[in-house]
Amino acid sequence: MAENAKGRKVWLDGKIVDYNEAKVPILTHSLQYGSGIFEGIRAYPTKRGAAIFRLQEHVRRFQYTAKIYSMRLGYSDKELSDAIVATVKASGLDACYIRPFAFYNDDKIGISTTGKRVSVYIAAVPFGAYFGAAKERGIKCKISSWRRINSDILPVQAKSSGNYINSIMANNEARASGFEEAILLSRNGSVAEGPGENIFIVKEGELLTPDVGSDILLGITRNSLITIAEKLGISVVQREIHHEELYTADEVFFAGTAAEITPIVNIDGMGIGDGKPGRLTMMLAKKYDSIVHGNERAYAGWLTYVR
Ligand SMILES: Cc1ncc(COP(=O)(O)O)c(C=O)c1O
Repeated sequence: MAENAKGRKVWLDGKIVDYNEAKVPILTHSLQYGSGIFEGIRAYPTKRGAAIFRLQEHVRRFQYTAKIYSMRLGYSDKELSDAIVATVKASGLDACYIRPFAFYNDDKIGISTTGKRVSVYIAAVPFGAYFGAAKERGIKCKISSWRRINSDILPVQAKSSGNYINSIMANNEARASGFEEAILLSRNGSVAEGPGENIFIVKEGELLTPDVGSDILLGITRNSLITIAEKLGISVVQREIHHEELYTADEVFFAGTAAEITPIVNIDGMGIGDGKPGRLTMMLAKKYDSIVHGNERAYAGWLTYVR
């Protein structure tokens, strides 16, 4: 038993069980073929206890991913949301990462999913800054030699396990070359996203981010930041971003549930701006932090309180 799993609970097919009771056969379809689908959600501590950030939007994306993969989850949005809240409550954590996961719980050899049982679990685990201390000082990225998958090959807007093999290849390559993270280009060579993050650049006070045609996952953090920036009167443009625009940007940052807002200060050995986290990046990071911790009335609707 994993030492750090002591006392941990998991929601599995409708019941909260001990983490160590939630077991599957080693030949499970989704383990063999990467056919699982998932979400990544965070809960943050607030004055009113743990609050889950943009729960409805994450549940909706989970359902859309299931639909794209013709996977019958058998739960409504409300049932899944209630189960996620119950899981966080059972975890006793007020700051956590929540992982809803659906998979073919069947150990027959063969790729067909017809008639195979679908199981859903939800886990909530302690989780800090994805890039650790680098979140404050900024990270060094490498443009990957691997292109982002695109919808000719796999549904890029679905959050499926299989999609992350592409992310893993890019991340492995970046780390092996001494960088902290990769940036993937789209099928036509424009900027797409990080292995698990959307990307933004700041140029002359304007915020730019790759558009839906750039082979990206439509991130919920991305959507939140577009809303926040526009409300602050910052112009936001969603368009194709050329590779070289990264090098000449004033600021570049990643945005995602895990990464939150992480400044990128160097790409391919070239300093971005003055080589330090940018002013607008840090202002948006501070605002985002304040919103997720329940300190901004205007964004109260984005939080689901656990108690
Ligand atoms: C490939 C990819 N792009 C972008 C994101 C950011 O999405 P979100 O902000 O919804 O977490 C993620 C994380 O889920 C991701 O895996």
